[in-house]
Amino acid sequence: MLSKTIDPKFIYGLPKAELHVHLEGTLEPELKLALAQKNHIDIGQTTVEDIRKTYEFNSSLSAFLAVYYSGMIVLQTEDDFYQLAMEYLKRAKENNVRHVEMFFDPQAHLARGISFDTVINGYYQACQDAKALNIDAQLIMCFLRDMPAQSANEILLMPQHHRNKILGIGLDSDEHHNPPLKFAYQFANATAQGYHTTMHADIDQIDSIEHIKQALEIINVNRLDHGTNIVENQDLVKWAAHTQIGLTACPLSNKFIANDSKGKEILDLLDQGVKVSINSDDPAYFGGYISDNYLALDSEFEISKEDIIKLAKNSFETSWISPIQKQIYLNEIDTYVNNYEE
Ligand code: ADE
Ligand code: ZN
Repeated sequence: MLSKTIDPKFIYGLPKAELHVHLEGTLEPELKLALAQKNHIDIGQTTVEDIRKTYEFNSSLSAFLAVYYSGMIVLQTEDDFYQLAMEYLKRAKENNVRHVEMFFDPQAHLARGISFDTVINGYYQACQDAKALNIDAQLIMCFLRDMPAQSANEILLMPQHHRNKILGIGLDSDEHHNPPLKFAYQFANATAQGYHTTMHADIDQIDSIEHIKQALEIINVNRLDHGTNIVENQDLVKWAAHTQIGLTACPLSNKFIANDSKGKEILDLLDQGVKVSINSDDPAYFGGYISDNYLALDSEFEISKEDIIKLAKNSFETSWISPIQKQIYLNEIDTYVNNYEE
C-alpha cells in the first residue's frame, strides 16, 4: 500500500540520524555475489536471484541469524569491509541520513580467522570517507550474546590502539537464554573506559520485561535497541519518558521477525513522551532502508507529519553527539520542514 498521508519525497529528504543498523546486515545480494566471485568462495548460489531467495526466511530471529552469519564468509579483506560500509553509506545519503552510529560484530569475523585490524580498518576508512558524503559516521562494537562472556572480555581488550575509532558498545545476536546480566562485568568495564552503551531488547522475547529491567536498572545502558515491549509495563514507560532514554525501533525488521511492525506500540510510546526513533536494523535482509521504515509505518497507520518530524528529531536527540551538534541537526530539520514545498 502506498503512503496516503505523507509525500515519500518529504520522508526521504528529512534529515535523520540512524542509530540501529548492523553493517553486516547491509550485505545486498549483488555485493555478496561480487565478493564471493572475487574471493573465489562457493556460497552455494551463482545468481543474485538465488541469493535473494535465501534471504526469505520464516519469521524468527534465529532463522534470520543463520542466514546473516553464513553470509559473512564473503567478507575477507579490509577492502571488502570498506566496500560493504561504503555501499550502506551511499544508501544512507539517498535517505538524507546526516549522522549514523553503525553496529559491527567482530567476534563473528574473528571466528572465521579474519583479524580485528582487517575489520576495523576497513570500516573506519569508510567512516572517514563518509565526510565527503556529508555524513558523520561512527562505530558501535557489539558483543555476541550467544558467545561466552569471556569472549566479550577479549573483544573489549582488542581495540586498544583503535580506541578512538569506536564510539560505543552494544549487545546483539540470540537473546534466548542470554540475558543482559551475563555481560554485567563487560558493560561496567566498557562504561569505565568511557564507551557509550546500548543493547538489544529484541521483540517479544521470552522474559522480555525482565531483560529490559536488567539492561535499564542494573547495567544502566545509555540506550535500548528495539525495547518496545516496555509498553507492557507502565512503570517502565513512565521511567523511559522521564529519563528520555532512546529506544531504537525498526518496523520492517519487526515485520520479518515478529510478523508485526509494532507500529501501534511505537506510536503509543511516542504519544507518551518516550524518545523512540525509526531505524533499519538489517536493511538488505528486511526489505528497506531507513526511509522505507518511516513509509511502512505511514502506510499502516497514516501517521501525522508532526509525528514523523518528532521521530526524526528523537533520532538526533538520542544520538551520542554533543549538545551543540544536536542543535545544529535539529535546526536543519526545522529549516527543511519550513522550506518544503508540497
Ligand atoms: N544481529 C543482527 N541483527 C540482529 C537483530 N535484529 N537482533 C539481534 N541480533 C542481530
Ligand atoms: Zn539489531
